[in-house]
Amino acid sequence: MGRFPWQPVVLFKGCFLLVSAELCLLDGIPEGSRQNVREDLASGLGEAPIRMVVYDWLSAEVVSELTAILLSEVLGYNVTLNTERASASVAGALQLAGCASYDCTERRPRSHVAMDTWLAGIPGELADMETTRPNLAPQRLGSMGFVGQEALYVKGSVREAAYYTTGLALDFYRSYNASLHDAAKFFSRVSDLDTGDFVPCNASGYESANDYEMRTYAEVTGDWGGIVGTPAGYVANCPDDFFWLSPACRHNISECIPVIAAGSGWNYYIWMQWSTWFAMPTAIGIVKDGAAHWETVVGNFETIFYWWYPDATFLHLDAWIFTVPRHSRREWAANEYRTGFPEVSVEKVVSGHLPAVAPRASRFLEEFVMDLEDIQGLLLEVREGATPWAAACNWVRSKRSLWTEWIPVDTQCLAGEGLQNSMDEYVTNRSEAVGCATCRPGRFSKSILDGTGATFVCEPCPAGTFESAFGKTACVDCDAGTFANSSGRAYCDLCDQGRYANATGMTYCHACGSEHWTTSQLMVLDGAETWVQVNGVTSESFCTCIAGWPLVATINLRQASYARVACVNASYSIHPKPKSLF
Ligand SMILES: *[C@@H]1O[C@H](CO)[C@@H](O)[C@H](O)[C@H]1NC(C)=O
Ligand SMILES: *[C@@H]1O[C@H](CO)[C@@H](O)[C@H](O)[C@H]1NC(C)=O
Ligand SMILES: *[C@@H]1O[C@H](CO)[C@@H](O)[C@H](O)[C@H]1NC(C)=O
Ligand SMILES: *[C@@H]1O[C@H](CO)[C@@H](O)[C@H](O)[C@H]1NC(C)=O
Ligand SMILES: *[C@@H]1O[C@H](CO)[C@@H](O)[C@H](O)[C@H]1NC(C)=O
Ligand SMILES: *[C@@H]1O[C@H](CO)[C@@H](O)[C@H](O)[C@H]1NC(C)=O
Ligand SMILES: *[C@@H]1O[C@H](CO)[C@@H](O)[C@H](O)[C@H]1NC(C)=O
Ligand SMILES: *[C@@H]1O[C@H](CO)[C@@H](O)[C@H](O)[C@H]1NC(C)=O
Repeated sequence: MGRFPWQPVVLFKGCFLLVSAELCLLDGIPEGSRQNVREDLASGLGEAPIRMVVYDWLSAEVVSELTAILLSEVLGYNVTLNTERASASVAGALQLAGCASYDCTERRPRSHVAMDTWLAGIPGELADMETTRPNLAPQRLGSMGFVGQEALYVKGSVREAAYYTTGLALDFYRSYNASLHDAAKFFSRVSDLDTGDFVPCNASGYESANDYEMRTYAEVTGDWGGIVGTPAGYVANCPDDFFWLSPACRHNISECIPVIAAGSGWNYYIWMQWSTWFAMPTAIGIVKDGAAHWETVVGNFETIFYWWYPDATFLHLDAWIFTVPRHSRREWAANEYRTGFPEVSVEKVVSGHLPAVAPRASRFLEEFVMDLEDIQGLLLEVREGATPWAAACNWVRSKRSLWTEWIPVDTQCLAGEGLQNSMDEYVTNRSEAVGCATCRPGRFSKSILDGTGATFVCEPCPAGTFESAFGKTACVDCDAGTFANSSGRAYCDLCDQGRYANATGMTYCHACGSEHWTTSQLMVLDGAETWVQVNGVTSESFCTCIAGWPLVATINLRQASYARVACVNASYSIHPKPKSLF
């Protein structure tokens, strides 16, 4: 039996695969020509394939295979599917964050992509991570294109028979009001079913024997006759031990419509409330776990049964949802179930670092969108015997025009990147460009606009500026005391001794004077004041003559100003006026 993605059932532990060496597409990029993505390891930089989180439900299995085919054969990345299956979105988020446990004290390599992530109206754990560990928080890339939902279903044969004989629409809850209609006559009797296929209502671990849920049912509906107290707590009141009878037919089980619950009685208390609020004559039984019982009972008898979409188990029965009023979050929060299930958002979630290490994959996945029909069709193929890979491959082959549109234009660079040619050199326009690369230190990513649209080029930092980091969109002026005399610099040089840079953004340093100058600073070394020669100085005031070449200055008494003029040979300095200067 399948299951709705977050229903707590036994984990299916698949031992699964690296992405097959076999190509799906005739023109697919072969394994040897694919690229890895950058990876930060404790030991430094490394390379690795794109790692995909795979959830332990069938649609995730198929969609992950499908995504892996596209990322590897169309975009040219090495891809692996994680062998450890994630049981819910929280587990998926931990894999994307590279955390072995929720507190993340133990790290493991980060996974990159989690398709078919079911966010059950509570993306809370993902949001939590955004505040507690923002650098590890996964990034949501939007809807898969479909939503998921749990519901009760009515199969086509029953529905059509009722409609064409009496005009009764059995896909609508109001057609079941026992005071107005006799819907039961279109369904099997409880006595037709074999109780051997069902679990007793008082079996522990099943929702019909969940004290809290049963008590809550009675408190909310006032139907205390619907439950019975036992030493182990309240259980559903099942006169024949197997079926709970709704108030509308409790007096006569032959008037009840069988409702088939599955798993551990998932949502049993909700089916109870619906029956009571809508005056439906129902007898709810929990089919024994395992695909055989569920599929046999639903297939062989006319019942209302639990199911969900997307799933293929009962597609062949032309089953329609039993329509009830639209979901009310407020009522559900108060344990009042007179409305339908919420639709569940199914999303593409990636690691926070994917856009940096594999920007094309990230942009591709942003565009990725499937219809409910697509996923239902894939699931049906698998149900009919195809492997998930084969079903995915068929889809990829037949939907080329759809996914081609998701492929990012190679030369549509992002901020932080720039156009690159086939020799991995930066270029300034699209004519020679084959792709994008992150701008290296010494360059900045500059937006340009051409006939194709906006993109970025990695332009060298102008002289007087520098950029020491990867992927920046601006360069920084050299600090005072430093200079960059050429463009494309990752750092600025310190001014030599005898020179100074009294402003930022300098392309050269001013010279203190023509000859015999240095720059020095009075420092205290071992308790004694000493003049120490320094470089990288930020003002002319550090300028001094080198030893043995005393300073000659002019003093303008009228303006009380003073100007350093030259450093002269000490042998001359005993003469007060060097001729050459005055
Ligand atoms: C990944 O890509 C590289 C570079 O193209 C290739 O040489 C290598 O065989 C691939 N690795 C795997 C595990 O497929
Ligand atoms: C359930 O009920 C049956 C008969 O009503 C009883 O024999 C059985 O012990 C009960 N089981 C549990 C788990 O209470
Ligand atoms: C119970 O309902 C069935 C089907 O409507 C009917 O034939 C039968 O007479 C009813 N039994 C009682 C005791 O009313
Ligand atoms: C069912 O029909 C009866 C009779 O018309 C009506 O009084 C009652 O409100 C209906 N119940 C529901 C839940 O619609
Ligand atoms: C594109 O760049 C190349 C050099 O990178 C240059 O020779 C060519 O003229 C440029 N073309 C346009 C349209 O600017
Ligand atoms: C630029 O500065 C460097 C380092 O001081 C120096 O070696 C080089 O000659 C200078 N280049 C020019 C063109 O001034
Ligand atoms: C820096 O020094 C030069 C040369 O001495 C001078 O012309 C300039 O005004 C100074 N600039 C600043 C900001 O002090
Ligand atoms: C300084 O001048 C004296 C006398 O003219 C000369 O002998 C000496 O070599 C000069 N020193 C230097 C370092 O040029």
